[in-house]
Amino acid sequence: MNSTQQVLAGQVALITGGARGMGEAEARLFAQQGATVIIADVLDTEGAQLAHEIGDNASYMHLDVSDENNWAQVMGSIDEQYGGLDILVNNAGILRFATIEDTTLEQYMAIVNINQVGTFLGMRSAIPLLRKKSGKSIINISSFDAMTGSNGLIAYAASKWAIRGMTKVAARELGQEGIRVNSVHPGGISTAMTGDTSSWAHNVRKLVPLYRAGEPEEIAKTVLFLASNQSSYTTGSEFTVDGGLANCNLYETMPGAPVDQT
Ligand SMILES: NC(=O)c1ccc[n+]([C@@H]2O[C@H](COP(=O)([O-])OP(=O)(O)OC[C@H]3O[C@@H](n4cnc5c(N)ncnc54)[C@H](O)[C@@H]3O)[C@@H](O)[C@H]2O)c1
Repeated sequence: MNSTQQVLAGQVALITGGARGMGEAEARLFAQQGATVIIADVLDTEGAQLAHEIGDNASYMHLDVSDENNWAQVMGSIDEQYGGLDILVNNAGILRFATIEDTTLEQYMAIVNINQVGTFLGMRSAIPLLRKKSGKSIINISSFDAMTGSNGLIAYAASKWAIRGMTKVAARELGQEGIRVNSVHPGGISTAMTGDTSSWAHNVRKLVPLYRAGEPEEIAKTVLFLASNQSSYTTGSEFTVDGGLANCNLYETMPGAPVDQT
């Protein structure tokens, strides 16, 4: 592929939670598409190794997305090195299961602080840098759980619904400056978060209309579309990439469900 075909040629992108899973897939795809990629995570060894594998157009920075001071340090470094930022992907997140009654306030706030507050801090601290560059795209990774409600996920669902709402506020506030803000809602993707095992993938497919688990690369393609100029008239929108899971959570018990042939 030559540089004229690379949709992110010359752009600088920051991907939080970029050391593994979907963030890793996005980092690899963005770099292939000509971007300079900053991988930010708390997994320093994995993040640095990934940056090394990708090559000269990738680097790693330690970033705990729930830490306001850490955001200021990272954005200061990016501004100094690259003179701004074209693309921010707020991808870092954690998942914990517990019923409402069994969720302590401490557990609830731990999830909200990373998933929800991390996304707020990311958007807020990126705005001055996005103004300096032409890309001007923020992609917030929410979840299919912000389209529906799953039992055992009170804090996670709250944080992901908040991301969906904050995306629309940001799109409204920043649109006049050409900064676009969209949310992506994955579901059923095979990563470390969901267990990354063949038995998990085997079980989840029975709930998914497309009858298989998704791969991180399938999310990365949607994120690339939103990061690039290919989506130039799209902002404040929701992109569900979940094999149909969000709208079909009773699928297994309804007429017309796939027949399990195993
Ligand atoms: N896997 C799925 O099916 C699924 C479904 C819906 C939404 N999501 C969302 O997609 C995103 C990526 O998830 P994934 O499946 O790739 O999981 P993952 O666990 O493989 O990746 C999450 C990354 O976030 C990083 N992270 C966690 N806490 C952090 C912090 N405080 N600061 C910086 N980085 C931190 C982790 O170290 C990890 O590298 C998450 O926001 C997740 O909630 C995933």
